[in-house]
Amino acid sequence: MTIRVVHHIAELRAALAAQPAVGFVPTMGNLHQGHLDLVKIARPRSSVVVSSIFVNRLQFGPNEDFDRYPRTMEADVRALESAGCDLVFAPDERELYPVPQGYKVHPPIELADILEGHFRPGFFVGVATVVHKLFNIVQPQLAVFGQKDYQQLMIIRNMVAQMALPIEIIAGPTTRAGDGLALSSRNGYLSAQERAEAPQLFALLEHMAARVKAEGIAAVPAIEADALLAIAARGWKPDYLTIRRRADLQPPSATDEPLVALAAAKLGSTRLIDNLEI
Ligand code: PAF
Repeated sequence: MTIRVVHHIAELRAALAAQPAVGFVPTMGNLHQGHLDLVKIARPRSSVVVSSIFVNRLQFGPNEDFDRYPRTMEADVRALESAGCDLVFAPDERELYPVPQGYKVHPPIELADILEGHFRPGFFVGVATVVHKLFNIVQPQLAVFGQKDYQQLMIIRNMVAQMALPIEIIAGPTTRAGDGLALSSRNGYLSAQERAEAPQLFALLEHMAARVKAEGIAAVPAIEADALLAIAARGWKPDYLTIRRRADLQPPSATDEPLVALAAAKLGSTRLIDNLEI
């Protein structure tokens, strides 16, 4: 089936009317292999795979990269087609936000205002609002989100559960370059020198995870402090390198809890995030 690109909600709804199993992969475009791997997860589970391409102004802070975020529609559509996507929904801002979006989804602050939400105020309100709206438009049976955005995935899972949305959320494992760097649309901003340095973020997460396993959770404050010093010494500006409970992203309190190491740090002007389940 040749891929089809639609720009309007009415067109999309008409195209999906008879489909029994809509699989959905929302994106902001500027796609890489990680996105295509999410499409490949949706493909065998869906009668039709829809991907959205929409750079969502609501989730960008005033000093973030909304204007310089790359718009690469033609290449994105070809790549989606090669991965098995059937339909691309690419609305413009007038279609998705015809009036200022006054009704918003506010995830609970104990999850939305920590980690990414602490350093990017309002980010998860923007994400939850657009994802809820896209779910209402596409009405998928399943949706696939990358595990690289660990907190985003958790917030969307919780939103779907608490709002009783009839959508199965599937986590796609993080796709990495051979040197360990998590694929991200923002990697394209890195200079050659920064690109060579960038895998150190994941290397440090691996080191933190190994130390937690060897030294236990009593050592977590020291492990976090050492990691922050180590990355700063390499010239990065870290926002957080931390060990949290997988269940709610709060600091660990008991030895047998499943944990995750999470990191966000700026290399030059590019902010990278990554995580590793322990
Ligand atoms: O992860 C992303 O690319 C975005 O946050 C999403 C889920 C497409 C919402 O704009």
